Amino acid sequence: MSDSNKLRLGVNIDHVATVRNARGSAYPDPVRAAKLAENAGADGITAHLREDRRHIRDEDIEGLTAALETPLNFEMAATEEMQAIALRHTPHAVCIVPEKREERTTEGGLDVAADDNRLAEFIAPLRKAGSRVSLFIGHEPQQIRASARIGAAVVELHTGAYCDFHYEGELEKRNEELEALREGAALAHSLGLEVHAGHGLTFETVQPIAAIPEVRELNIGHFLMAEALFIGMESAIIEMRRLMDEARA
Ligand code: PXP
Repeated sequence: MSDSNKLRLGVNIDHVATVRNARGSAYPDPVRAAKLAENAGADGITAHLREDRRHIRDEDIEGLTAALETPLNFEMAATEEMQAIALRHTPHAVCIVPEKREERTTEGGLDVAADDNRLAEFIAPLRKAGSRVSLFIGHEPQQIRASARIGAAVVELHTGAYCDFHYEGELEKRNEELEALREGAALAHSLGLEVHAGHGLTFETVQPIAAIPEVRELNIGHFLMAEALFIGMESAIIEMRRLMDEARA
């Protein structure tokens, strides 16, 4: 496989912190998990600092910034507090996600089309500071066009609905979602955006997404951490990498 065809794997280590926080202990340490992920073949580490700090905390971002050899993809909501933190650390990438306090996970994409002026202003200092700004969106063409218009470098397409339909056995809807993701990736690429994808991906669902040629990076967390309980984090990451490379070949 040529390097230009290689798909990067960003490993999200949020749920190592979730387990730590459940007992208020010092372990398991998400920075240790991130180093292990790097050694197992992760091309980058993703962490989402939520307003309620339910998983990663501010000091974890400091620890990750100091310890990582691969790029940090810092996920955050478009708030002033998070902007100040991102500007303090200037991570390689900042991925803007919608955030609702009551949700269990990031349930949908950003409405860039409805909030384009505010988001354009919000991301300008992050871009100026040198972080690559990514917007976590659905595959709708108006969201992709708005993302390009406001100057994002990257869009990350939300694969949650595709994965949900797969596991609900709604195969027709799953395939429609997949087709819309393919079209979205092609449109984004044609507008000069780098395309990433993620949310809910598993060994069973990753390959059709990995095979979309315009997709350059997948960000995967929950499943890898769940699988790590049974086969270990290293084996889980190695198997995910193998499936991604196989789909790409
Ligand atoms: N990408 C983004 C933008 C996310 O918010 C998340 C979840 O935090 C992921 C990818 C990873 O999703 P999952 O943990 O379901 O693999």
